Amino acid sequence: MSKVALITGVTGQDGAYLAEYLLKKGYIVHGIKRRASLFNTDRIDHIYQDPHVENRNFILHYGDLTDSMNLTRIIQEVQPDEIYNLAAMSHVKVSFDTPEYTGNSDGLGTLRILEAVRLLGLIEKSKIYQASTSELYGLAQEVPQTEKTPFYPRSPYGVAKLYAYWITVNYREAYGMHASNGILFNHESPIRGETFVTRKITRAVSRIALGMQDRFYLGNLSAQRDWGHAKDYIRAMYLILQQDEPDDYVIATGITTTIREMVEKSCREIGLHVGFKGKGEEEKGMIIDIDGNIFGKQVGDEFIGLLKKRIEKDKNIFLEVDPKYFRPTEVDLLIGDATKAREKLGWIPEYDLDGLITDMMASDILLMKKDIYLRNGGHKTLNYFE
Ligand code: NAP
Ligand code: GDD
Repeated sequence: MSKVALITGVTGQDGAYLAEYLLKKGYIVHGIKRRASLFNTDRIDHIYQDPHVENRNFILHYGDLTDSMNLTRIIQEVQPDEIYNLAAMSHVKVSFDTPEYTGNSDGLGTLRILEAVRLLGLIEKSKIYQASTSELYGLAQEVPQTEKTPFYPRSPYGVAKLYAYWITVNYREAYGMHASNGILFNHESPIRGETFVTRKITRAVSRIALGMQDRFYLGNLSAQRDWGHAKDYIRAMYLILQQDEPDDYVIATGITTTIREMVEKSCREIGLHVGFKGKGEEEKGMIIDIDGNIFGKQVGDEFIGLLKKRIEKDKNIFLEVDPKYFRPTEVDLLIGDATKAREKLGWIPEYDLDGLITDMMASDILLMKKDIYLRNGGHKTLNYFE
């Protein structure tokens, strides 16, 4: 008999990778998607199965973490062996604008799932994974952060996730549920949401290299993050639910990098050497030189002339700081120690930061080139604004 998994947030970055991973392992995968006025299933269209196909193993349900009855009905119908609760309003900056909704979906949403499992008598059957986060550490009390480091969240998102973390622990201790927290540090990929900083950088650098854009704007360039690849991190989620005993695990690479360095590395990947001048809100990023061989290979010889001319004309500023991207309270430094996950789960990441950047830059260059081809062919392309 195939195992049955239910993934909330299946249309998100992690949900899409996890669904694909579990399908390959022979699972029947159910996913919860939200109703939206436009199609919102781009990330899972390649594994979509038409409802008219018999014996489907990938089934989508409309639902929302703010709707208890909906969640309870879906869990009753699906009778999952494993529930991965990945759905969340996951943008830290946006959580300052929508604090109540964030608390409802990210905090209480987790309670709704735990309580549905309890009320439906599925405690023995359904194992639960809760998508906890390094944002719990916020104003970090210890470096690096482990499962024992005290939490100090710094945003409505972090505070909502703190509730979700503890209610998961509480249901485990109170009712003996197999409910575990993965405390995942930042993880990215070519399908990362476009307004998270890594993807914002790889998209903008690609567009600048192709002559589609002159400059872009970021907030705090000095924040430090421990970035891994989402493909490695969804494997950790799976491993956590295969353990006999529920527990909480830090998932991280153990290396931290500033936003500024992330910009430098993304540029270097395609042969652009960049520098920075000024401080704080006045800081600017400049293209200093181009390595023609690397640029030609990664981007294309036909695009180098335009960029060279730009540097000659001293119009080499490509990045500025816009305080609108600052957060009311910032998380300055995250770096995780995943020793427990390595020792108990046998989790070893395959990607390092350079491998992640190579993957993201190659994908975004290709994506942006598609727009150029469409425009050259007389077609309209869409613009997305943050
Ligand atoms: P993501 O790309 O933003 O995906 C979030 C998913 O949740 C999307 O499918 C979204 O649907 C769905 N969603 C949002 N609000 C919902 C609601 N009220 N009801 C039902 N579904 C809802 O996030 P991700 O990067 O894949 O992250 C997955 C989870 O891990 C999140 O809980 C996030 O907070 C947590 N996490 C992420 C990281 C990271 O670095 N990526 C690190 C630690 C923890 P739409 O597609 O319709 O928007
Ligand atoms: N988004 C964004 N946009 N961030 C910027 C920008 C910008 O223009 N400029 C600087 N930053 C800085 C932020 O201030 C933050 O310090 C850092 O870049 C990372 O921001 P995000 O990529 O938005 O990620 P995050 O760390 O706030 O949150 C992500 O990781 C958490 C795990 O630590 C999200 O995926 C959360 O859902 C996740 O829990």
